Amino acid sequence: MTSLPPALLDALKKALGPGGLLTDASDMASYLTDWRSLFHGKAFAVARPGSTEACAEAVRLCAEHKVPVVPQGGNTSMVGGATPDETGHALVIVTSRMNKVREIDPIDNTMVVEAGVTLKAAQDAATRAGLMLPLSISSEGSAEIGGVLATNAGGNNTVRYGNARELVLGLEAVLPNGQVLNLMRRLRKDNTGYALRQLFVGSEGTLGLITTAILQLQPKPKSIEAALCAVEDAKGALALFSAFRNVEPSAIQAFEFMSGLSMNLVNTLIPDASLPLSEPAPAYVLVELASPRGGNSLRELMEEVLGKAFEDGLLSDAVLAESEAQRLAFWKLREEHAEAQKRAGASVKNDVSVPLSAIPSFIERATAACEKLIPGIRVVPFGHIGDGNIHFNLVQPDGMDGQAFLARDHEMMDTVANIVRELGGSFSAEHGVGQLKSYMMPGWRGGAELDMMRRIKGAVDPEGIMNPGKIFPAV
Ligand code: MLT
Ligand code: ZN
Repeated sequence: MTSLPPALLDALKKALGPGGLLTDASDMASYLTDWRSLFHGKAFAVARPGSTEACAEAVRLCAEHKVPVVPQGGNTSMVGGATPDETGHALVIVTSRMNKVREIDPIDNTMVVEAGVTLKAAQDAATRAGLMLPLSISSEGSAEIGGVLATNAGGNNTVRYGNARELVLGLEAVLPNGQVLNLMRRLRKDNTGYALRQLFVGSEGTLGLITTAILQLQPKPKSIEAALCAVEDAKGALALFSAFRNVEPSAIQAFEFMSGLSMNLVNTLIPDASLPLSEPAPAYVLVELASPRGGNSLRELMEEVLGKAFEDGLLSDAVLAESEAQRLAFWKLREEHAEAQKRAGASVKNDVSVPLSAIPSFIERATAACEKLIPGIRVVPFGHIGDGNIHFNLVQPDGMDGQAFLARDHEMMDTVANIVRELGGSFSAEHGVGQLKSYMMPGWRGGAELDMMRRIKGAVDPEGIMNPGKIFPAV
């Protein structure tokens, strides 16, 4: 690794102010590795700007010296999207110090929020204002708004409110040349040419660095009902989903699937997580209904649909949350899935989507194919089944060396992806492409689609300095 040209280093220090530039190896270490410890990168330095202006000046200086920039939020990417490569020729720009919720407007139902606010802090601020930010992901305590938007995060409430993309009204971003692009309009209707803000959502930091956003909020629910249900399999889960959807589709706020094996990992490896059902089941559903109206009608709806589903043999057991604490305990069982799998050993994540009707066949075929590929492999599917998004995760067999397992990740990913392709799905439903899955892009998005993405990238970032090595495979 070479060091920064002294003139650039001095200019960056000046632009970023005290504590704004980290160059010490131990200070930088946590920013150079991803949450899953799959990637270990290097960088000249780590910048922590406290404002859009400081951030823009840091990017401008990098552009002038042709130093690549790696934007980073809470560093929770599942695909190495915020980790620099191993050359050391990069500046990581971390948004965590830009962490103000600037404004919440109860008439517009909007929130103006800086990139470094964690998703949880943004949700809490909306709740305090009597509103709701309807985006929820397992890593929300660390994930920051800038990264959540750059990756178009999905999560538990997509089934009702859409992905991050659907919540963005306005955006401010620093372009690869250091210019600030101000798209901070809080308009429901604005039909004036290309919707440039949407170009940044899901671009994984390859077109610019998001610094501020205006998000659409929703009324805070006055009643919420959650139930944990024991079902036979994914087919049973989908039948239950249809049962709710046929009666009151707008009430479904979350509909999550968990296989028996994945739930068992949570139950055994996560302290304070305990299954409230009398017996373990082959699979589970966590369903949550919400309404901005109070009263008992939601509870009645939940009981009516579950009662009928029980009579129809769609579920064998169900527990309704009797308190907020119990509802949160149900969610703990779901949200600790990633952590439990991490504790169980090395894992390969296949974050796929297929049409709802194809999910049972997908799980059956992919399970058989993976078990054939690596005998003893632990197949632990779970996820946002109401969106057709299954985390078809694979945990190393007990006793196998974790590195030897990970060395075969492409074999496993390709085996699963081939089945996904036959069923008309996508190889990445919500985690993005990052550096882990960029090798799949030509096979999946090749031809005119990848070509157009490359031309957009080339037009916005002709020097290729923004988040190199992400989305696009090396040519
Ligand atoms: C989740 O929904 O919990 C994460 O996206 C999943 C994962 O670990 O694959
Ligand atoms: Zn997920």
